Amino acid sequence: MSCLCCCVGVCRYPLGMSGGQIQDEDISASSQWSETTAARYGRLDFEEGDGAWCPEMSVEPDNVKEFLQIDLRSLHFITLVGTQGRHAGGMGNEFAQMYKIKYSRDGSRWISWRNRQGKQVIEGNRNAYDIVLKDLEPPIIARFVRFMPVTDHSMNVCMRVELYGCEWLDGLVSYNAPVGEQMTLPTYPVYLNDSVYDGAIIYRCVMTEGLGQLTDGVCGLDDFALSHVYNVWPGYDYVGWNNESFPSEYVEIMFEFDRIRNFTTMKVHCNNMFSWHVKTFRQVVCYFRSESDWEATPLTFSPVMDEKNPSARFVTVNLANHMASAIKCQFYFADAWMLFSEITFQSGTETISGLIWLIQGRTSSYVHILSASLKSVSACFLEENPTHKVDDSNTRILIGCLVAIIFILVAIIVIILWRQVWQKMLEKVSSSLKKCTVQYDTDTSPCMLSYGVKFCVPAATSTSASKSTTTTVVQDGVPHYAEADIVNLQGVTGSNTYAIPAVTMDLLSGKDVAVEEFPRKLLTFKEKLGEGQFGEVHLCEAEGMQEFMNKEFLFDISEDQPVLVAVKMLRSDANKNARNDFLKEIKIMSRLKDPNIIRLLAVCIYSDPLCMITEYMENGDLNQFLSRHEPEGQLALLSNAPTVSFNNLCYMATQIASGMKYLSSLNFVHRDLATRNCLVGKNYTIKIADFGMSRNLYSGDYYRIQGRAVLPIRWMSWESILLGKFTTASDVWAFGVTLWEILNFCKEQPYSQLTDEQVIENTGEFFRDQKRQIYLPQPVLCPDSLYKIMLSCWRRNTKERPSFQEIHRALLEIQP
Ligand SMILES: *[C@@H]1O[C@H](CO)[C@@H](O)[C@H](O)[C@H]1NC(C)=O
Ligand SMILES: *[C@@H]1O[C@H](CO)[C@@H](O)[C@H](O)[C@H]1NC(C)=O
Ligand SMILES: *[C@@H]1O[C@H](CO)[C@@H](O)[C@H](O)[C@H]1NC(C)=O
Repeated sequence: MSCLCCCVGVCRYPLGMSGGQIQDEDISASSQWSETTAARYGRLDFEEGDGAWCPEMSVEPDNVKEFLQIDLRSLHFITLVGTQGRHAGGMGNEFAQMYKIKYSRDGSRWISWRNRQGKQVIEGNRNAYDIVLKDLEPPIIARFVRFMPVTDHSMNVCMRVELYGCEWLDGLVSYNAPVGEQMTLPTYPVYLNDSVYDGAIIYRCVMTEGLGQLTDGVCGLDDFALSHVYNVWPGYDYVGWNNESFPSEYVEIMFEFDRIRNFTTMKVHCNNMFSWHVKTFRQVVCYFRSESDWEATPLTFSPVMDEKNPSARFVTVNLANHMASAIKCQFYFADAWMLFSEITFQSGTETISGLIWLIQGRTSSYVHILSASLKSVSACFLEENPTHKVDDSNTRILIGCLVAIIFILVAIIVIILWRQVWQKMLEKVSSSLKKCTVQYDTDTSPCMLSYGVKFCVPAATSTSASKSTTTTVVQDGVPHYAEADIVNLQGVTGSNTYAIPAVTMDLLSGKDVAVEEFPRKLLTFKEKLGEGQFGEVHLCEAEGMQEFMNKEFLFDISEDQPVLVAVKMLRSDANKNARNDFLKEIKIMSRLKDPNIIRLLAVCIYSDPLCMITEYMENGDLNQFLSRHEPEGQLALLSNAPTVSFNNLCYMATQIASGMKYLSSLNFVHRDLATRNCLVGKNYTIKIADFGMSRNLYSGDYYRIQGRAVLPIRWMSWESILLGKFTTASDVWAFGVTLWEILNFCKEQPYSQLTDEQVIENTGEFFRDQKRQIYLPQPVLCPDSLYKIMLSCWRRNTKERPSFQEIHRALLEIQP
C-alpha cells in the first residue's frame, strides 16, 4: 500500500536509531576516535559509551570525507532527519555545525542530497545537547544514508542522529522515461520536466536509474500550471510529453523493482484539462519481466475517457497478479499532451518483509504519527529523558517552538496570498528552456520541492496548534485554567484512548485511585477482543466481582454469578513508557464517571502482566448488535428477525451524545468514536468504550498508511486526516458518521462504494470545498431533522459544527 498523495505529512516515524530497531551492526562509520565513540554510539538521545560517534581525526574545511552510515535494510521514504552532539552528562562539547547527506538505494551508487535551491549543506547543531530536526525537501527514497559532518574551520566533531520516515512499500528502485517537455501557453511557458529526478539524464533525452517527481508523494493540482510549491515554475508538479515528439504515439516508461513482486495495481495520477489538450492516456500496454526475459504477451488496458470533468485523477490499472521485477509500460496519447504527477504500485505482501509490515500495521496506531511530528518541530514537546536538558535550554526550546509556530502560520498566510500573487510572478519567469539538452550527471538531485505548504501540511503544524487550547474545567470544584498541555496517552492496545489536558492529569494523580486490586486467579479467559502493540484485550468472566465494585455503581446482575468483563493487559516485556502510560490510563479511567462511559472496575497491578478490568456488556458492541437486527416493519415480520424501533435507535444515539458531552466537558478527545466502540447492555443502554484498532473483525474500517499507522479514515474529519488534528470538533464529525451507521443498522460501511484512496481524495474535496465533496447519503429510515444533524457534524469549518451539548439537546427533541 502506498499512501498516494499524502505521504509526506504522515510518514514521519523515527526509524530506530533512538528506539533501537536499527541494529548496531547496521551502523558504521568512516573511522572512529576510540572504541567508546564507535558508530553504534551515534544514536540520537543515547548516552551510552562516550556519548556519541566521533571520527578519528578532526574534520577539516573543504574536506568532507568522514561519515556515519546507516543501513535501513530495505528501502525507506525519509522525510526528516535529527542530529545532536556529544554531551555525555556535561563532559562532552563536540557537535556538527553543518552536515551533508548522501544516500544510496543499492549500496554502490551514492547520491548527494540537495534541497530545492540545490544546496547540499544542512545547518546542524549549535550545542552538544539539543536535538535539531530538519525536513528533507524533497524526501529521500533510500536504503543507505550517510551523515557527513562539515565545518568551516578544523574542529573535533561528534554526532548522534535519527532518521524519520516510513517503509517504501512500492519497492520501486528506479524508473526510466523520456525527459519532460515544455508547453507554450499563450501567456507563459509551462515546464514539464522532472525536476527532482536523482538519476542520470542521457543524451537521447532519456532519464535513467533514478527516482523523481513521479514518486515524491506529491500529486499535481487540477490546473497543471499551478503548483503546490511556492516560488517554482508553472508545471512544476507534473512531468509531461507532447505527441509531436513521439511518432510511435506512446511514451514508454520502465520501472525497476527491488525484487520479484506479485503486482495487483498501478495507479497513475494524470492531469485531464482537456480544454488545453491535456488528457489521461488512451491505452496502456505493459510488459513484465521476472527473470531475464520479457513476457511475450503484454497486458493492455484502456481507461474510460472523460471529457466532462477536468480534474486530475488517479487512473487505476489492474496488473492482474503478474509476477515481475521490472515493468515496461507504453502510455498512448489521447490528445496532444499527457501529464503525470505520481505513479504508484501495489503488490502482494506474500514475502517476509511484507508480513512484518502487515503485523506492524495491525499493532500500532496513529499516535505514532503525532509523536513523530511532535519531534519534528523540535524536541520541545518531549518530556522524556531530562538528562540532557539544561535549564537554559528549556527557554531556548520554548523560543524554538514559538518560532516554529510563527513560521508555520506565516507559511499558511503565504499560501493564501500566493494564489493572488502568482500571476505577477509568472511574468518574471522568462528563462527559456532548451529542449533536450545533453547532460550526464550521476550525482545530482536538484531538489525544488517544499512540502510544508501543500494541502497535507505536516502534522506538526496542527499539533502545535492544538497544543495551546484554552480550556475550562469545572470538575470537583477545580479552578479554571488557561493553558493546558495535551498529553497523548497510548492505551494498551496501542490506540490513543484519550487526549487529556495535563492539568487534569495532575488533578487525577493527586487523588487516590478509587479502584482495587483484583485477584488474578478469579478471571477466566473467554475470548480475545483485541490486540495491540503493547498488549491484548480479553473477554473474561470474573468471579466475585461484586465485592470489588463501588456501591454507587449499579451492576444489574445477581450476586455470585460470574460477571463478563473486558481485561486489558500489558505485555510483561512492554517498555517503561508503555507501563507508565498504562498506569496513567488507569488513573484517568478510574475518574471517568458517567452512565454512558465504560467503567473501570478493578486492576491487577501488584504483579505482571498489569491488567485493567472494565465493564463489558452482554449484548456486545453496537455494530454487531445492530447488524443482527432489522428495522420494524413488514420485512422484519416476514423474516421473523429481531427488530429495533426508531425510538430505540434515537435513544441509543442520545446516550452516545450524552457520554460524549461528558468526555468533551473534560476536554477529552476520543479519536475513534464509532458503533464498534460502543457497548450495548440491557434495555438498549449504551456505554462508550475503546477497544483499539486491532480487532480482526473491523480491520477493514482502518486504513494502514505506509506500514505503521492505522487510521479509521471513514470516521475521521478532513482536518484529522490532512492535518493530524484531533479535537472535540473531530469527535463531533465521527459522531455524525456513527449516527449514520446507526440509522443504517450498520449494514453498510460508510462510503462503502469508495476505496480507501478515494475516501482520502474525498477528504481533499472537503478541504477544497468546491462542492465536489461527497457526503454520506440520507439513510432510508432517517427523517430530515436527523440528517440535518449529521450534515451539521460534517461542516468544513470546525467552529460551525455543533457541540455535543447542542447535539444532545437536538436528539432529545427528536425523540418522541
Ligand atoms: C526543469 O526546468 C526548470 C525551468 O526551466 C529548470 O530550471 C530546471 O533546471 C530543469 N530541471 C531539470 C532537471 O532539467
Ligand atoms: C499472487 O497473489 C494472488 C492473490 O494473493 C495469488 O492468488 C497468486 O497465486 C499469487 N501469484 C503467485 C505466482 O504467487
Ligand atoms: C497530436 O494530437 C493532436 C490533437 O489530438 C492531433 O491533432 C495531432 O494530429 C497529433 N499529432 C500526431 C503527430 O499524432
